[in-house]
Amino acid sequence: MTLKRTLGTCYYPEHWPRDQWEADAKMMLNAGLTWVRIGEFAWSRLEPVEGTYAFEWLDDAINVLGQAGLKVVLGTPTATPPVWMVQKHPDMLAHGPDGVVRKFGSRRHYCFSHEAYKSECARITTALGERYGRNPFVAAWQTDNEYGCHETARSYSPAALAAFRIWLADRYGTIDALNTAWGNVFWSMEYASFDDVDLPILTVTEPNPSHVLAFYRFSSDQVVAFNRLQTEILREYTDTPLAHNYMGKTVEFDHFDVAADLDISSWDSYPLGFLDQKNRGDLAHKKAYMRQGDPDFQAFHHDLYRAVGKGRWWVMEQQPGPVNWAPYNPAPLPGMQRLWAWEAFAHGAEAVCYFRWRQAPFAQEQMHAGMLRPDSEPAAAFHASVEVAGELAAMPDVDAGASPVALVFDYPSAWAWEAHPQSEQFEYFELLLQMYRGLRKLGLSIDIVPSTTTDFSQYQLTFAPGLLTLGSDLQAALRTTSGQVIVGPRSGSKTDELSIPNPLPPAITGLDCTIDFVESLRDWAPVPLADGGAFVHWAEALVGQGDVTMKRADESPAMMRYGNLSYLGGWPDPLALDGILRRACNEAGIAIHALPEGVRMRETTTHRFYFNYANHEVNLNGTPLAAAGVRWVKIGDA
Ligand code: GAL
Repeated sequence: MTLKRTLGTCYYPEHWPRDQWEADAKMMLNAGLTWVRIGEFAWSRLEPVEGTYAFEWLDDAINVLGQAGLKVVLGTPTATPPVWMVQKHPDMLAHGPDGVVRKFGSRRHYCFSHEAYKSECARITTALGERYGRNPFVAAWQTDNEYGCHETARSYSPAALAAFRIWLADRYGTIDALNTAWGNVFWSMEYASFDDVDLPILTVTEPNPSHVLAFYRFSSDQVVAFNRLQTEILREYTDTPLAHNYMGKTVEFDHFDVAADLDISSWDSYPLGFLDQKNRGDLAHKKAYMRQGDPDFQAFHHDLYRAVGKGRWWVMEQQPGPVNWAPYNPAPLPGMQRLWAWEAFAHGAEAVCYFRWRQAPFAQEQMHAGMLRPDSEPAAAFHASVEVAGELAAMPDVDAGASPVALVFDYPSAWAWEAHPQSEQFEYFELLLQMYRGLRKLGLSIDIVPSTTTDFSQYQLTFAPGLLTLGSDLQAALRTTSGQVIVGPRSGSKTDELSIPNPLPPAITGLDCTIDFVESLRDWAPVPLADGGAFVHWAEALVGQGDVTMKRADESPAMMRYGNLSYLGGWPDPLALDGILRRACNEAGIAIHALPEGVRMRETTTHRFYFNYANHEVNLNGTPLAAAGVRWVKIGDA
């Protein structure tokens, strides 16, 4: 499939005087934009009083934008219920993990399990669908906005508790089955009825991890159901694609499950804001990339959401300049707004939309840049958009291309290790990102794939680290591929209910290897490896007669293999990972590339793209590439 690549923006006509809309639409076209997303926070203007709709202004806005030649993405406004709604349903508010209610006055103030709120959402979605489902200018829809943003995927409200008990009864059938599955004989935690089960918070010491994991699964299912309620309604009224805008490093719900009801997956990419997240590298890393963003973080999500969207994905919001919400908010290095867009396109994005059109002079995000300054003068992202639009026009549409390497990503595994980390440092997302980074440093293009994948035959190398379970279907699929496969650390180490399986892990058919015990490691106490580098955060003592392919410095096994499948018994530091990956690529016959520090590469079917994330010029294959520079060459000419 070849992709038509386009640009867009996020616009709030309700924030601006009516007489500005035409000029805005014209300027959007001048910026080379195709898409304009509107409406996703406008509930108080669409229904100022319960049951009284005020759609005329939205009719007008869609008309102005559409007549100008723009395509509208219309958002359902369910992330921002108006104050009358909260007064009508005071118990629709979510509660935090501290049990405290999260009040009106910002956004996302709802609990996914509140039935009456869901009915209100169905009502406004129906009204919008009826009115705009066949509007020729509405070319796509967005459900809600950023599920899970501001830590809202999990609610600990009375509504959530009631729904959780129903979910448990459905999953376990009998309370005895639940007690057995969770091991509730321990500490006399046995329940006599599903109504005895509480939310896993505010306990004296840690709650049962199986209870926590069940709650995380339930919470994910509530997000899926909430989204499905809207998509089922919208499908009655429109044939245009339905999307949702996911976020970076958000694993609290299973995006593959949500995406099953959507046509396009999209995400909101704020590279500089994300650099300040916990675990996002040391001071040197932050200093090197503070105006460019982590060189692998964006691409990781591009590849993840390409998988989530089964190939169809967008960047719905692209950082335009300084944002307002990170601890520190520097300006991007000149050129980064262009680089970020091109990187998304190289990973297969259909559209990149800069957030937002004009900087708002009021309220929470008044310090957040837009494509225009508050006085309507073009800002950096406007100029970047003009430049990228010109380049897109001159560029043939290309396929995202096939990658030689697969990385298995599984949301329930993220929940499992969050429920039961055994180490402050063991974070599933980080483990996967580190593996991804190691592969990218070797110039490899990667496909992220779900754990339900049944055919890996197109991949020469597959990684499946940190999987909660290594089910027989997945094992069979990994076993039948002719490529190299590396699983571990921690893959297959628990049952689906988060207890220790028997036989002991990793229980890989044919491999005589058992994990004797595991250790979590302090930052200053890594386990050195014989060939350089070390295990950090996590190390597993492997015993058995299997074929040892990597050793610790003390000669004990660090990695064992059977056939094409290797088990890695620890979290490798970058040096160890580099060695593991180079050996694996060599064996799999995958060509690796030497790239200057900070440069990343991505191959499509027709082009090889280079992105310079370094804050200085580099020498790339004998030619200088400026800081924030992008270069593409036709495959074959490279
Ligand atoms: C996103 C959100 C937008 C806006 C933006 C600011 O998370 O979807 O509405 O708040 O961040 O960077």
